[in-house]
Amino acid sequence: MTTPPGPARDALRAPVIVAPMFLVSGPEFVIESCRAGLVGSFPTQNARTFEDLVDWFDRIRAGVADLPGASWAISMIVHRSYERFAAELELVQEYRPDVVVTALGPPSRVLDEVHGYGGAVYADVMSVEHARKAADAGADGLVLVCHGAGGHTGRLSPFAFVDEVRRFFDGPLVVGGAVSTGRAVRAVEVLGADYAYMGTRFIACPESLVNDRYRDMLVRSELGDVTATAAVTGVLCSWLTESLTDAGYDPESLAEAGRIDFSDVHGEHKPWKDIFGAGQGVGEIDSAASLADVADRIVEEYRAAGGHVAQQRRAEVGV
Ligand SMILES: Cc1cc2nc3c(=O)[nH]c(=O)nc-3n(C[C@H](O)[C@H](O)[C@H](O)COP(=O)(O)O)c2cc1C
Repeated sequence: MTTPPGPARDALRAPVIVAPMFLVSGPEFVIESCRAGLVGSFPTQNARTFEDLVDWFDRIRAGVADLPGASWAISMIVHRSYERFAAELELVQEYRPDVVVTALGPPSRVLDEVHGYGGAVYADVMSVEHARKAADAGADGLVLVCHGAGGHTGRLSPFAFVDEVRRFFDGPLVVGGAVSTGRAVRAVEVLGADYAYMGTRFIACPESLVNDRYRDMLVRSELGDVTATAAVTGVLCSWLTESLTDAGYDPESLAEAGRIDFSDVHGEHKPWKDIFGAGQGVGEIDSAASLADVADRIVEEYRAAGGHVAQQRRAEVGV
């Protein structure tokens, strides 16, 4: 078996990618994730200006330099309306994140450049059709964003999604969507995938970029306090219901609205500032514990939850 492209699995304490989150993940978040033995990541559009992005890349490079085997990732919008695309791709080649997760467009737009420095391209997908297209386009790995995810959420159950995708794709699979415990990380492996993509579980950590109102709401929210709707941005997103209500939405009568447009993603970025994204795993957040403490708990749960099932499964199917 060849080593799958992507994070150095053996250097990780658990197969977890701390997922990139708009207005949540910054350089400290990435560095602390790596220090905790997980894969850190951030979406490049979080850096408001190009100069900020260069500064963030510099800080991450310096912050992980003393961590042997540390892996970090970025997510990058590859949609045609994203005006910073070409400039960001040049920076990516300079700073060499281990994984580039492509969102909202074909992974082929970055493949040659990322492969050129030895990095891996994973495509963020929410349907079997998109997974197949991304695999055909040469993506090294696929991030299956499933039902219950925070932010821009999928609609599919991971139980069906992973199996369908495994019929035509034997590369690294990442599963996101309400994975909030080490037991759930283990379950992702049992399903036959390689990494869990955990976002919501880490938002309340002090290393994130969010304000205290958001943190407090996360701590007191549970599964029933999350609403998925396309009414706010035009695509299906999971939000804390209380923040929707505060912003004037009636969760009982939400209409579909809006359209996808990333031309102003570095501007005021309403509504993400006032309406707080969170997935169905929010109930696991019981404090604003540090990222290191949350990671320790996840690793402990993961270890307690059993053996290396995924490796056995891979050996069985010969991938
Ligand atoms: C507040 C928030 C913002 C997000 N922003 C982004 C983003 O900018 N780019 C991206 O690729 N995914 C984004 N996501 C999705 C995550 O990368 C990931 O798919 C998701 O958090 C996994 O589900 P979970 O939140 O239930 O763990 C966001 C998620 C949340 C909760």
